[in-house]
Amino acid sequence: MHPVSNHEEHQGTRRDFIYYATAGAGAVVTGAAVWPLVNQMNPSADVQALASIRVDISAIEVGTQLTVLWQGKPVFIRARTEDEIAAAREVDLGSLPDQSAENANLAADADASDANRALSEDGKWLVQMGVCTHLGCVPLGESGDFGGWYCPCHGSHYDTAGRIRKGPAPRNLDIPVAAFIDETTIQLG
Ligand code: FES
Repeated sequence: MHPVSNHEEHQGTRRDFIYYATAGAGAVVTGAAVWPLVNQMNPSADVQALASIRVDISAIEVGTQLTVLWQGKPVFIRARTEDEIAAAREVDLGSLPDQSAENANLAADADASDANRALSEDGKWLVQMGVCTHLGCVPLGESGDFGGWYCPCHGSHYDTAGRIRKGPAPRNLDIPVAAFIDETTIQLG
């Protein structure tokens, strides 16, 4: 059984933990017991502890996002458009509420520049936890005043680099340990 189906966009059912931001294909390559999370929503301890997963990003089109579950939490993997990258890069860093990159791959004092947030040098790939830093809701993509993510729980607006810009959330969306294994595979953890 292949548990991945090409759901149509779930704009109205954002409670789903895993969805494709647009209709279309995408695949999570794990070989491990990640998918049972989707079906059961009641992961066993060994699944939650799964240290790393590999994600095939080859089917993620520019301007769309793949959400995967990793260690029981959603991770957003977005192929950003040129406009999104440009918008993120022209921001005055001094105006940011959280001036830290919040990137587990960098030193704790790394600044919140877009280059320190993006996974790829060209800025295309942004990988971040889909967990609002206020109280943990899952923000909505392509939403909010800054064209990035919006958390409707209490109104936190994140920009196209996942940085908090307005609302009660205290920090930028966290960036997990992540790296390219090859051109089309990202490893989380
Ligand atoms: S949990 Fe996101 S704004 Fe409160």
